[in-house]
Amino acid sequence: MTKILRLKHFLSVERLSNQEIFTLIQRGIELKKGEHPIIPNSWFVSNLFFENSTRTHKSFEVAEERLNGTIIPFETSTSSVQKGESLYDTVLTLSALGIDICVIRHSEENYYYPLIESKTIQTSIINGGDGTGQHPSQCLLDLMTIYEEFHQFKDLTIAICGDLRHSRVARSNMMMLKRFGATLYFCGPKEWYDPQFDIYGSYADIDDVISKVDVCMLLRVQHERHTEEEEASFSKEDYHRQFGLTKERYQKLQPHAIVMHPAPVNRDAEIADELVEAPKSRIVEAMKNGVYVRMAILEAILAARDKEGEKVC
Ligand code: CP
Repeated sequence: MTKILRLKHFLSVERLSNQEIFTLIQRGIELKKGEHPIIPNSWFVSNLFFENSTRTHKSFEVAEERLNGTIIPFETSTSSVQKGESLYDTVLTLSALGIDICVIRHSEENYYYPLIESKTIQTSIINGGDGTGQHPSQCLLDLMTIYEEFHQFKDLTIAICGDLRHSRVARSNMMMLKRFGATLYFCGPKEWYDPQFDIYGSYADIDDVISKVDVCMLLRVQHERHTEEEEASFSKEDYHRQFGLTKERYQKLQPHAIVMHPAPVNRDAEIADELVEAPKSRIVEAMKNGVYVRMAILEAILAARDKEGEKVC
């Protein structure tokens, strides 16, 4: 069995060493293969989603249930957030009530600093996505999905395609894939490219790289983060033809290449409808992997909180 890490919080992948990331991936793979999780006797968790979510929210819930956590429901619409309570005061309250872990998704980048710097808040924080900053658990599940397929990263050529500027998934993944030695290409509208990404890879036309990539990682067009001008700049059909994974581009992929997308998918924009579940697609597999890496993250935090419990066989 892989050693269980001890993490006080899980905030960004950048903060983790390569060894720590590999340990979490290996643990996720072990749990997926049926290894029994470490189940503490009693622990409490609350999932605070200030932005909408299906995959992250629900896969954390499944992971929490599998580790016998007591989930204390939190809905922004019925909480004192509606009376103007700040995120800090909400988490301060949950900490006082004895919540061990808060999984938080928030629109503000780096929202977690005041929470982890507080001397009063004792709750561990898991970042479920901070604005356009990072989405570290998505990064881990993407890394696990790639690792399951290729068993390494350094010889891989990966295209990250689409709405790069607004994507926290892209930001987390480009940092880690570059750190692990992959060759990265960035494809998509030039308007949504940021020259800051040059340190991780090169901007390219999707048609120039599609036949040489091992992984074609598509990104969701983030309509909710666009200005009216950006929204008006492409029709869905234009976007798909110029930047999306069309059936023609899919045919050009190498036999062993895989297609990824964090989802939710805008079908017939980023990817042709019929390709979402095509043989090279790992979109559904990555969603499944999300449960296992999130179990590995929760185990690591519970171990640091001295709630290691017994291995239940
Ligand atoms: N991939 C992802 O983060 O999906 P959700 O927004 O549904 O959580």
